[in-house]
Amino acid sequence: MSIPSLPDALPGPRRPRPSSVPSLRWGVLGTGWIASRFVASLQASTTQQVVAVGSRTQASADAFAASLGIARAHASAEALVADAEVDVVYVATPHHLHLAGALLAVGAGKHVLVEKPLGLNAAEAQAISDAAARAGVFCMEAMWTLLLPRFDVVRQVLDAGLLGDVRTVLADHGEHFEWPHRILDPALAGGSLLDLGTYVTTLATWALGPATTVQATGEMTGTGVNGQAAMVLTHAGDATSVLHSTLLTRTPTAATIAGTAATLTLPGPFFVPGDVVVTSADGSRSVTWTDPEPIGHGALFHSALEVAHCVGEGLLESPLHPAAAARTNLAALDEVTRQLGVTYAPTPAPTPNTSSGHGAAGC
Ligand SMILES: NC(=O)c1ccc[n+]([C@@H]2O[C@H](COP(=O)([O-])OP(=O)(O)OC[C@H]3O[C@@H](n4cnc5c(N)ncnc54)[C@H](OP(=O)(O)O)[C@@H]3O)[C@@H](O)[C@H]2O)c1
Repeated sequence: MSIPSLPDALPGPRRPRPSSVPSLRWGVLGTGWIASRFVASLQASTTQQVVAVGSRTQASADAFAASLGIARAHASAEALVADAEVDVVYVATPHHLHLAGALLAVGAGKHVLVEKPLGLNAAEAQAISDAAARAGVFCMEAMWTLLLPRFDVVRQVLDAGLLGDVRTVLADHGEHFEWPHRILDPALAGGSLLDLGTYVTTLATWALGPATTVQATGEMTGTGVNGQAAMVLTHAGDATSVLHSTLLTRTPTAATIAGTAATLTLPGPFFVPGDVVVTSADGSRSVTWTDPEPIGHGALFHSALEVAHCVGEGLLESPLHPAAAARTNLAALDEVTRQLGVTYAPTPAPTPNTSSGHGAAGC
């Protein structure tokens, strides 16, 4: 295979411009940490309209709507999805409620953007994507990292074969959390894997394809959730990914995709806006794409632009992150959880609101 030499500059990103996509009417399900950042990002950087919010309580819905200038506040998920002026529902509840929220939305004929993970496991992800396909509505997991301009640069580097034969992915995602954050709560499907680990396994399966083997080791927290996990995956042709997630400690949260001709590094945090560096295998040359966007969740709007772009094109899935890719990722995580003896209760008893602050990067 002939390998192109490193160019003087990396290709620029090709993400849709806010003015080039239809202005959809969004309903937000959940009033927590990510929901508020998502709405603020859309309002700051797009012409998408956030017209309604749904909560377990009228008071929480009213407070969220008032703080973000949202017209209608609903006291249940059912009322939100029944809102005739909502085109697309953003499901921003804890993991174990993604399935129920997504099924409600697609059952009401709404397009749906579901926070990561799409479901607790591959089977739930399949149920959601099947229901959306049957209803003829758009469905995507909000794995926002893959929709960032940064990752379109990575995509083009991979597609152009600049790395040669890609053999290795190294990635970690570690942030420190304390009780009462929901990530420590087994009743809310907590643990490092579905919040943090899903970023590294998504990166690995996105770059190298489905896991053919999985080996995992880990430790639990005193609250009964996975605290950290070290994972080694193999992929087609025995390519390898070495991955780590932890909610106990802050780790570099950097990523490397290495091939026989060159190595691509994503300085941490790799899952948010940031630079892309490609260095030749002999270390003699390096080229960097510098991301103009600030690090942080202000970039969440790129996922919404992808939804609006696809809906405008009449697509039911994003070619950049189809449901099959989310299922492939969750299948690898299913094997990790099996090996670690982690289980997620699918129908926990109702719990009080446990929203709380995250670190600077958030997950
Ligand atoms: N993309 C990212 O960077 C990122 C970052 C953080 C989180 N996330 C994802 O977003 C989802 C939500 O995370 P978050 O950090 O925003 O959580 P959070 O702050 O706890 O908010 C979750 C919201 O869901 C609603 N909810 C419904 N049933 C609930 C229950 N039984 N217990 C607690 N809340 C319940 C609550 O709103 P009401 O009280 O109004 O019903 C709550 O405010 C997770 O799946 C997570 O993976 C993504």
